[in-house]
Amino acid sequence: MGLRKVKPHTVFRDHKLNHQIISGLKEKKVLITGATGGIGSSLVRMFANEGATIGIHYHQNQKQAKSLLHDIEKDGVKAKCFQADLLSTNELTLVQQFIEQFDNIDILVNNAGGILGLKDFLEVDESAWNETHRLNIQAPFFLAQQAFVNMKKHGGGKIINISSIAAKYGGSSKSLHYGAAKAGLEAITVGLARAGASHNILVNAVQAGFIDTPLQQRLINEKNLKERIDLIPLKRPGKPEDVAGAVVYLASKAGDFITGEIMTVSGGD
Ligand SMILES: NC(=O)c1ccc[n+]([C@@H]2O[C@H](COP(=O)([O-])OP(=O)(O)OC[C@H]3O[C@@H](n4cnc5c(N)ncnc54)[C@H](OP(=O)(O)O)[C@@H]3O)[C@@H](O)[C@H]2O)c1
Repeated sequence: MGLRKVKPHTVFRDHKLNHQIISGLKEKKVLITGATGGIGSSLVRMFANEGATIGIHYHQNQKQAKSLLHDIEKDGVKAKCFQADLLSTNELTLVQQFIEQFDNIDILVNNAGGILGLKDFLEVDESAWNETHRLNIQAPFFLAQQAFVNMKKHGGGKIINISSIAAKYGGSSKSLHYGAAKAGLEAITVGLARAGASHNILVNAVQAGFIDTPLQQRLINEKNLKERIDLIPLKRPGKPEDVAGAVVYLASKAGDFITGEIMTVSGGD
């Protein structure tokens, strides 16, 4: 099928000029998993700033979930906290709970994740392997599956998965199993994007580099920190907002022609 045959100037007349890069998120219903972590908290604040309705998922950090809820409700944002352990398949009803509360889901951000069983790959046991895969690939897959069904019924939506450059490099010797899980998550992203396109369901991943969050603070000491930063062409750790900004971009109208992409946010790493 060729391009529409139109006079060049009419192409531009078809489009209303919009000078705002981020738009179209007002009252969109967004579920953010791992909303209490470094990147998650930044995601909550950025989506709230755009007037979205927000599901704040947490596992253990109820205090941070409530504090985020309190802050954004003060600004008139509609939101609710949802607790779930994503290691437990019995608790993968999170999307249903969100839909019961807000009627449907427009955007799912699969952000909860991390390395379970931080051990040299020669010592990684089955439980570290399984738990890391459950959190970083199994849970996002089943949450996306449930969101997909609802999005299909109501005309579309967006799913954004948070991956890691460990998927590209294989991770460090202590995070090989994590890199493998994130690589799987990227494969799911591409496959779901293909399956979702005809239903207006857009699926992308943001592949984060070294980001200054509690996750990294648990992994790295002062000495390693300098060495790690030296490997980053932009010579600084990423901020949670660097990743959250890319997610909000993809979720907004600016991302309406992007699907099946893995967007790296790593300072060139
Ligand atoms: N920081 C980095 O350098 C970096 C790099 C690449 C990719 N990433 C990815 O970015 C995402 C966010 O990471 P972050 O750095 O913001 O980490 P973080 O600060 O450690 O936050 C992790 C989040 O995941 C939730 N979580 C952990 N275990 C869970 C479980 N069993 N069930 C449900 N939720 C659970 C935590 O909930 P509670 O706190 O409520 O328990 C928390 O909200 C992750 O997918 C991570 O793999 C991070």
